[in-house]
Amino acid sequence: MKLCKGAVLALAVSYGLIYCHTNKSKFMLEQKGDSLTLIHITNPTNYILLPIEEAAEESRVRLDIGDAADTDMDIRLAQTKVDYWVPFVLPADAKTVTVRVQKSLGDALCWKEMKLSDTFDPSHTDKFRPVYHHAPLYGWMNNANGLVYEDEEYHLYYQYNPYGSKWGNMHWGHSISKDLMHWEHLAPAIVRDTLGHIFAGSSIVDQENVAGYGTGTILAFYTSASDKNGQIQCLAYSNDNGRTFTKYDKNPILRSSDRRKDFRDPKVFWYAPGNKWIMIVAADKEMRFYDSEDLKDWNYMSSFGEGYGVQPCQFECPDMVELPVDGDTEHKKWALIVNVNPGCYFGGSATQYFIGDFDGTRFICDSKPDVTKWLDWGKDHYATVSFSNMGRRVIVVPWMSNWQYCNNVPTKPFRGVNALPRELGLYTQSGDIYLSAAPVAEVKNLRKETKEIPAFTVANDYHIESLLPDNEGAYELSLDITAEKAEIIGFSLFNDKGEKVDIYFNLPERKLVMDRTKSGIVDFGKNSVTHEIEVHDRRKTTSINYIDDFALATWAPVRKENKYRLDIFVDKCSVEIFLNEGKIAMSNLVFPTEPYNRMCFYSKGGTFKVDTFKVHRLSL
Ligand code: FRU
Repeated sequence: MKLCKGAVLALAVSYGLIYCHTNKSKFMLEQKGDSLTLIHITNPTNYILLPIEEAAEESRVRLDIGDAADTDMDIRLAQTKVDYWVPFVLPADAKTVTVRVQKSLGDALCWKEMKLSDTFDPSHTDKFRPVYHHAPLYGWMNNANGLVYEDEEYHLYYQYNPYGSKWGNMHWGHSISKDLMHWEHLAPAIVRDTLGHIFAGSSIVDQENVAGYGTGTILAFYTSASDKNGQIQCLAYSNDNGRTFTKYDKNPILRSSDRRKDFRDPKVFWYAPGNKWIMIVAADKEMRFYDSEDLKDWNYMSSFGEGYGVQPCQFECPDMVELPVDGDTEHKKWALIVNVNPGCYFGGSATQYFIGDFDGTRFICDSKPDVTKWLDWGKDHYATVSFSNMGRRVIVVPWMSNWQYCNNVPTKPFRGVNALPRELGLYTQSGDIYLSAAPVAEVKNLRKETKEIPAFTVANDYHIESLLPDNEGAYELSLDITAEKAEIIGFSLFNDKGEKVDIYFNLPERKLVMDRTKSGIVDFGKNSVTHEIEVHDRRKTTSINYIDDFALATWAPVRKENKYRLDIFVDKCSVEIFLNEGKIAMSNLVFPTEPYNRMCFYSKGGTFKVDTFKVHRLSL
């Protein structure tokens, strides 16, 4: 942690008052009663750095400027130990400010450890911090939302808690990029307010100035969530290219007509054939469709989902996109993306989708209700939504975690990583239509060095002692495999400590498997709830028990083919597999205590051939 130059900290305790000052700035603590403390700051610096203890209860911290908009933030202020500090922004132009803290008692450690500072350095020391995947600088992130492309910038907004690395205080965090790979981190764009948390939603570019805030304005639609007001849909607009937003003064723009507790994550898009805007809202176990001409008055049209796909589970984060089937622009279909929690084949949260038609009023699904199609077959792929204003490309960003254990994964002071952005397509297989999700082509620009391993046949074991010299744990493996007579086509990625990820095709069972049982740190996900649920896959209906641990294998159904193409992306804390250009995707977190730099190929039942094998070092 860096403090401002020349900062001198002094601490004095007298009759319940504690003083702390830098050269000109100082703060004084006024303890009022048992659990209310006022921090009076004179000549405020940019921040007060608050010490956090992840295991502590939340205190309520509020910048008190006497305005009705002053909002309490729930912050785990250190009581007995400091895990890290987070910056709490102070107003630039005030001579004095007061920060009000409720619930932290007088003898808590936080009072000694808080400091004034003009700078905050989130020091990226965490060994699991990804090299080329998007992650917040510090704090907690769950899913991406409000994704929009405008003026050659991708805006990635995301569910963000800047005050610690556990879920809470939902803001829309904000990063921008020109190439979907290099992300610049900006201040949160929409901040939790007195109406509630800023839950997920979507953004559009208002090209025709329909909402009246200017042509080309970015409009954000989000759910405001609180115990008091429930979940209500709100609008905000940005006149500075998505950097800051002003909330519409007549919010909310939509409430649940039947007082649903779960009514959230509005997805708004333009429906040209009907000359109108559509909003889809996740309402408990269904998606509700609304339309509007002015983006402010919304009219209910229909619902979809009750009884469809995996049952029973909470629908969240809808998206719907129209795509050509097998590249044929004369034959298009709609894909309705339905994120479900719980419902994942392997426990927790996952992304399913339905293919069908949209007539401007309702979504008509091609398949029977009991058919479930998964966008990804790993356990860490959730709340996938697409960028708006993109033209023909449909690019989505999945959050790479699972609600079962996301609050406990062993990273600090950031927690939450997005998977590689993926480009969606529709393909036909055995008479049915599926979504493919391939890593965006932009990722190829990150290849810094390529090692090519000559073709080889795997009869028993075939070892590769070193994938890359000085391997930092950020690379891509691309392989073309001929199955020949093999029944098991497999390889382990491992390190000198014997931690490994096992990836194999089990062809008699028609499965592609990723096993992370021994991948490194795996024991933080225990003790979560056990549910039993009926799960439908592409071919059959099976009943399984949730496997609530992190230490497990995930698998995808595959066809028996002679040739397979695999692209595998490894980045510090994740492994993502793409089979045959994204026809199957599988994303899983892993926490090896050192990078996997060795490989061992193995076969059973016959030999297989690795026709091409390239290892690409990836960096920004
Ligand atoms: C999805 C979700 C959304 C909600 C948000 C809250 O992961 O549960 O439904 O808007 O996260 O952070």
